[in-house]
Amino acid sequence: MLISRKLAAAFNEQIGHELGAELQYLAIAAYFDRRHLKLLSKLFFAQADEEKQHALKFVHYILDTQGDLQIPAIPAPKPTFASAEEAAAAALKWEEEVTGQINKLMAQAVEETDYMAQSFLQWFIDEQLEEVVKMDRLLSIIRQSGERNLLMVEAYLVHVEQ
Ligand code: FEO
Repeated sequence: MLISRKLAAAFNEQIGHELGAELQYLAIAAYFDRRHLKLLSKLFFAQADEEKQHALKFVHYILDTQGDLQIPAIPAPKPTFASAEEAAAAALKWEEEVTGQINKLMAQAVEETDYMAQSFLQWFIDEQLEEVVKMDRLLSIIRQSGERNLLMVEAYLVHVEQ
């Protein structure tokens, strides 16, 4: 086994967090879809896909290192939001929490001098910077446009997507 039981358990827990994020981002995508804000919806559907990929990276790592794969129960996502700002703020808070979780995993890998796990986790460290910045910017433009002008956010996203 190329992974300690303790680190495998922590990775399994992280699979739960990543799949939980997938469900939460699907709920956010649906919230924007119901409001006919198609690009905001598309952004969160894409983000949900990314979270699934994150979970799969951990699944494959555990399998490759012959650890025990034990996927935990995934809590139900918050189904709806009072405003676009609340939805984007929840996404930012989530990404900040995940950054903390990944940092803890890296600290554990360092403590165990598990260089293989450190190399694996470095990708997530870099990814979290990207994801926190993405959600922080999104929240900022939603705040600047205000709830009544979310079509301007859609127009902004058309521009960003080009
Ligand atoms: Fe898997 Fe958005 O962190």
